[in-house]
Amino acid sequence: MSRFPFPPYLDGWFRAAFSHEIAPGEVQPVHWMGRDLVLFRADDGTPHLLDAHCPHLGAHLGHGGTVEGSGLRCPFHHWRFEGDGRCSDVPYARRIPPAAQVRAWEVVERNGVIFFWHHADGAPPGFEIPEVPELRPSGAWTPLVARRYRIRSHWVDMNENAVDGEHFLHVHGTPVAPRLQCESRGHELHIFTAPGDPFQVRSVDHGPGFRVVYATEPTESVIFLAATPIDESYTESIFAYTARRLPGLDADALAATMVERLDADMQQDIRIWENKVYRESPLLCDGDGPISEYRRWISRFWRQEPEPVDARRG
Ligand code: FES
Ligand SMILES: [Fe+2]
Repeated sequence: MSRFPFPPYLDGWFRAAFSHEIAPGEVQPVHWMGRDLVLFRADDGTPHLLDAHCPHLGAHLGHGGTVEGSGLRCPFHHWRFEGDGRCSDVPYARRIPPAAQVRAWEVVERNGVIFFWHHADGAPPGFEIPEVPELRPSGAWTPLVARRYRIRSHWVDMNENAVDGEHFLHVHGTPVAPRLQCESRGHELHIFTAPGDPFQVRSVDHGPGFRVVYATEPTESVIFLAATPIDESYTESIFAYTARRLPGLDADALAATMVERLDADMQQDIRIWENKVYRESPLLCDGDGPISEYRRWISRFWRQEPEPVDARRG
């Protein structure tokens, strides 16, 4: 992607689907990171993500493939693959060819989302996606409402918005620009406003594919954002919103209003994102947010050597 000076696919956990989008026994073709993939949920409920094309004669396992117990049968000649990608049955052969294997992606299901792990060198997961208690279905919070967007940009550039305090005023019309600070803690980036700032917000990025925002205005709420590269040009970005139910508050009505407002914010951002260029050496001034710190942190997801600042703060 010539628009950006970093690789299209970073290291981290990325959203493959919402949990509710795929039931046990279901199979779906998906396309992430420029690859055709197949997502399926075994009969016991375990989700799996495999490269889509069968090593035999190349059928797409997501178009007509069927779940059978823990595995997936190819629609073409009914070879069967397990969640780890290994072929476990060829119905008409005495011996399974030893190389009969498709690539299996590491998957974890958390916070109502099925995530997959990507690493440029195939390294195993370097961190975990935490459980976010507020996202667990309960009567204490409104049901999550999500919106999704297909955006012609890269998350490294889009997510820079999180530390760009001034853009909230000029693009989204907030009454004031929040004074944002950030702190890199290994694979997490914590962003927060100073005590006493009229715009109280904090957020945590867990690698380059998942961020959680904790807001107190207009009410206590949690927003999560996830972004997955579709290919070298497009990213699918989602947000999901929930508000805490408090006495005397119509939290459902408020949540519905907030989702519309966040959707409008997203449209405002997308117009900028899809048409901007990425300045490798931006001309910053003293009122800009901690953009350089953000860039130093996010670069760890495509560089081999962690930045010294990360080693220091752990
Ligand atoms: S192409 Fe999959 S079993 Fe033949
Ligand atoms: Fe924005």
